[in-house]
Amino acid sequence: MPELSDCTGYQYIRETAYDRKTIKTIKRPAIAEVDTFKKYPDAKKIKLPTEWKLKEARITPLFQKRRSLRKYEKQSISMEELAFMLWACQGITAKSGNYTFRTTPSGGALYPIETYFSANLVEGLDPGLYHFDVENFSLDSLSETDSAEAVAAVCLNQNFMAHSAVSFLWSAVIRRSMSKYGNRGMRYILLDAGHICQNLIVAAEATGNGACPVAAFYDDEVNKLLGLDPKEETVLYAASVGKRPQPKGQCTL
Ligand SMILES: Cc1cc2nc3c(=O)[nH]c(=O)nc-3n(C[C@H](O)[C@H](O)[C@H](O)COP(=O)(O)O)c2cc1C
Repeated sequence: MPELSDCTGYQYIRETAYDRKTIKTIKRPAIAEVDTFKKYPDAKKIKLPTEWKLKEARITPLFQKRRSLRKYEKQSISMEELAFMLWACQGITAKSGNYTFRTTPSGGALYPIETYFSANLVEGLDPGLYHFDVENFSLDSLSETDSAEAVAAVCLNQNFMAHSAVSFLWSAVIRRSMSKYGNRGMRYILLDAGHICQNLIVAAEATGNGACPVAAFYDDEVNKLLGLDPKEETVLYAASVGKRPQPKGQCTL
């Protein structure tokens, strides 16, 4: 078994990293485009119902109105909302033997993803960088320096992130999955991150917030901001969350 750094999965992450110096030299690949919708023109078509009378369909409006939100009301979210979003991402919901199970699935129940965030506008929480301690459902304060601008800067200067209430950053402890699954483990890591971000998006929608997923960042810079050793742990995904702007003229009382 090769060491982690010799594995294709690990090298793929390093080789696709963005950095400030080379990002402008990246060329569009010589790969032909393809239509967004797969078509089977000769297949028999069966129309699906679009009206749901199911009790469970209360979730429908959350999916229906979800849109990546990049403009936020300058308003704090509550600690309760933050806790709910973190729980939706990775909250422990069951225990069985040595395993703990969470709100989101994970390949082999190995849970390689760690959640960090920059608190920018959260009631009762100093601005700064935090780590979510899943096991104890608590926060580790990593830095009490306002990090809203710093996070936006390392994410290709995507300025909207600086105006969010919270910007989440998800890293992978690569060894957690790859020590069991080798290169295939990298697939599971990426899929796990997707599950977590999706739950965050739904939780944000459910609390009157909106979210925008972000995967464009300078890898080494974002890792450095969080103090991560990229040989072991690297940021893979991010999302900004903030209050959805009220339509003009609407009373919020
Ligand atoms: C993997 C992934 C990476 C993304 N990265 C960014 C990003 O770095 N910046 C950004 O503004 N939006 C980002 N987005 C949001 C997409 O631009 C957005 O989902 C897409 O335009 C469709 O719009 P909608 O989410 O409003 O439906 C990302 C979305 C995904 C799924």
